[in-house]
Amino acid sequence: MKSRFLHFQYLPMSMRVLFASVLLVFGTGYLMAMIQVWESHAGKDGKEMLTAEDLVISYSGNPNGTKLETALRGPMADMLPAEKREVIFTWLHKKAPQEEFDAKINPILQDHCVACHNPEANPHLPDLRTYEDVAKVTARDEGMNVSTLVRVSHIHLFSIAFIFFIIGYIYTHAYVRPAWFKCVVIATPFLSLIVDVAAWYLTKIWTGFAWAVIIGGALYGIAFTIMWVTSMRQMWFYKLPQDLIDNEGELPRADINN
Ligand code: HEC
Repeated sequence: MKSRFLHFQYLPMSMRVLFASVLLVFGTGYLMAMIQVWESHAGKDGKEMLTAEDLVISYSGNPNGTKLETALRGPMADMLPAEKREVIFTWLHKKAPQEEFDAKINPILQDHCVACHNPEANPHLPDLRTYEDVAKVTARDEGMNVSTLVRVSHIHLFSIAFIFFIIGYIYTHAYVRPAWFKCVVIATPFLSLIVDVAAWYLTKIWTGFAWAVIIGGALYGIAFTIMWVTSMRQMWFYKLPQDLIDNEGELPRADINN
């Protein structure tokens, strides 16, 4: 009976080159994804680091704030000078009166925002050309709405599952003991993915679930790193244990199901 496990070093060079190339691109992709998470969430609560509070604000909104303030303390902070931001905050804290809009606020928006925030340039961004348009982002911040979450979650579920299928498949060719540990590392990202996405919705009900988003995210990161490093190392810089060499890269019979 043949074992179902074949170590990297017994794979043809062409397959190892394929695996290593995919890992290099995924590694870069992962870094970009981390930067993106940072850029879109960090700083929403006014502190520079990415905190649980930032995630709560992203998913369930900020009872003390408006979309405009949240954006200007987060991803839009660099779009205008600090003193002009303060002018907008002061106006928002006065409940955004219309009388001051034309004199004080509109000129700032025209100079720094409308180039992107108009329907011709970006139909998906809030239009900031008139008072009526701006009023939509000065209402209480309710976080991401459910239809946005559904759109983001289906993309996220499919694409991340696909990436972890490929990485997990590559990693099945590594020699890792105990075998249960290898299985846990392979399964963890898929379970974390479900927990992570479920927590986006649950954070709207109870903000403590923001921690499940953070823990889920950390678990993918750990599993990704273990699989990436182990696979790369065993593909190119590793001396196989003698029992594997004796079996030409296949496990001894007793170990056959791993
Ligand atoms: C270079 C283009 C660009 C400029 C200039 C710009 N924005 Fe944005 N804005 C974006 C993009 C892209 C997003 C969506 C992605 C994100 O949230 O990071 C966005 C998101 C927002 C949101 C959040 C929308 C939501 O649904 O949560 C607000 C509010 C906002 N911008 C306000 C402003 C204000 C106010 C200014 C001017 C000070 C400004 N933006 C300048 C591109 C721009």
